[in-house]
Amino acid sequence: MDDLRDKYLTAIAGANDEAALEDLRVQAIGKKGEVALKMRELGKMTPEERQIMGPKLNALKDEITSAIVAKKSALEDAALDERLRGEWLDVTLPGRTRRPGTIHPISQVTEEVTAIFADMGFAVAEGPQIESDWYNFDALNIPGHHPARAEMDTFYLHRDAGDDRPPHVLRTHTSPVQIRAMQAQGAPIRVIAPGRVYRADYDQTHTPMFHQIEGLAIDRDISMANLKWVLEEFVKAFFEVDHVDLRFRASHFPFTEPSAEVDIRCSWEGGTLKVGEGDDWLEILGSGMVHPKVLQAGNIDPNAWQGFAFGLGIDRIAMLKYGIPDLRAFFDSDLRWLRHYGFAALDVPTLHGGLSR
Ligand code: PHE
Repeated sequence: MDDLRDKYLTAIAGANDEAALEDLRVQAIGKKGEVALKMRELGKMTPEERQIMGPKLNALKDEITSAIVAKKSALEDAALDERLRGEWLDVTLPGRTRRPGTIHPISQVTEEVTAIFADMGFAVAEGPQIESDWYNFDALNIPGHHPARAEMDTFYLHRDAGDDRPPHVLRTHTSPVQIRAMQAQGAPIRVIAPGRVYRADYDQTHTPMFHQIEGLAIDRDISMANLKWVLEEFVKAFFEVDHVDLRFRASHFPFTEPSAEVDIRCSWEGGTLKVGEGDDWLEILGSGMVHPKVLQAGNIDPNAWQGFAFGLGIDRIAMLKYGIPDLRAFFDSDLRWLRHYGFAALDVPTLHGGLSR
């Protein structure tokens, strides 16, 4: 019996999986197993022998059973450890969502416009959104009493009584970047300045924060003709059409002289906008020749240099190009809207790759 015990306990200890254990169980204590065969021999024994051997055989059976149970749970533990090692996961890694986000139409259109002007030699300039009233107004030939200050529904930053720092505003347009760029780079210069601007206004076509792109080109002999060509090239490239009609309407801005507002020919037939055909005109930007006082504020000699500037509403041309009816939806952060109007993150607009695919 000791041989039997040694044989099975050793075999159980060495078993590698559940199947091997089950085989051992059948061999040892199954109905026709070795222990069962021994138990059958009890019948041939004397009652005295049987009284000794019976309990011993039962004890052996119990011992083998518990050895199998113990080994089985040890094997399960090992399997679990193995699985945990294999499925180890670094939860501090950045998440990767199943649905990638989309590029907001404002970002998309800003990239598109930037690509078009980069192709014409314009670099990108930037300025602060919190601007001194000198840069936002005075330097642009808008003195303190000028009605344009009131017209622009300016947000002023709070100042405590006795604070003698210059007044600051949330810039009402990107034109102050003209001054900053001229001061920083001098002439000649060719830049665009995309960015956020702020005015206290809110309805279907106005939000208190919106986006403009400023354009500025200064050289020795730049004229309105250059402005017209640049804008025509821009509009054709942006709306991805071969032909456009532009209409220059005489207008007034304190920082340009002469000034012109620019409309593009379009049709609204069937409620959808088509650029380049039809009998309607749509205003898209303000422009003009940079006022000598503005050149002076930018430390550029108006007797030696001249140039044009323009200011374009990004949100507005985004609505036009992509058929977005309500400006306010741009800033609602509604996921369904973003999925509908957003752009694939990897489709970076380039002129050669196609702006808007
Ligand atoms: N700054 C003007 C506006 O916000 C636009 C403009 C820019 C007009 C440059 C002329 C030249 O309305």
